[in-house]
Amino acid sequence: MIKFREMVPEDAAGVEAVEKASFAIPWSRQSFWEEAANERTCYLLALDETAIIGYAGVWILDDEAQITNVAIAPSYRGQGVGTKLMAEIMGAAKSRGAARMTLEVRPSNAAALALYAAFGFKSVGHRPHYYQDNGEDAVIMWNMKL
Ligand SMILES: CC(C)(COP(=O)(O)OP(=O)(O)OC[C@H]1O[C@@H](n2cnc3c(N)ncnc32)[C@H](O)[C@@H]1OP(=O)(O)O)[C@@H](O)C(=O)NCCC(=O)NCCS
Repeated sequence: MIKFREMVPEDAAGVEAVEKASFAIPWSRQSFWEEAANERTCYLLALDETAIIGYAGVWILDDEAQITNVAIAPSYRGQGVGTKLMAEIMGAAKSRGAARMTLEVRPSNAAALALYAAFGFKSVGHRPHYYQDNGEDAVIMWNMKL
């Protein structure tokens, strides 16, 4: 049974493990500690009985929210956890006053693009050479009505 709850600084090591398994340029444990302590952010965890299996984060500034990262541990992907986590983080951002939400995603990331499209995000443009590891552009997506 998967549960969801807000991240606290002490969760940083568990989140870092998911992060390292998910991204070419992972954020550090220290970054997650700081993000959890920042009152302008909201990070939610997905947990099974024993461990953190995913997380999603947003920065919230007035009525705008920006997704920082969404990741599910590799062995839990493709089972609907990411979908549930997106619903949770969008609901959490809305309840903190966000009216719209943006994010950046690699054009090569078919799973993430499909996930975001299913939640009403639309591509509005590109940031050229945004990703440092391979120079890939970023697709900028917005959901204008949470
Ligand atoms: C993107 C990610 C968070 C999706 O999480 P997930 O738990 O696997 O997603 P779900 O099982 O809820 O699937 C959601 C949708 O994504 C799409 N999807 C999932 N896996 C896919 C794949 N391998 N290829 C193409 N589309 C895929 C499907 O449209 C799916 O909806 P459907 O099951 O109704 O068809 C996960 O793949 C992940 O952590 N990837 C690595 C980190 C990452 O890229 N994060 C996003 C950064 S912008």
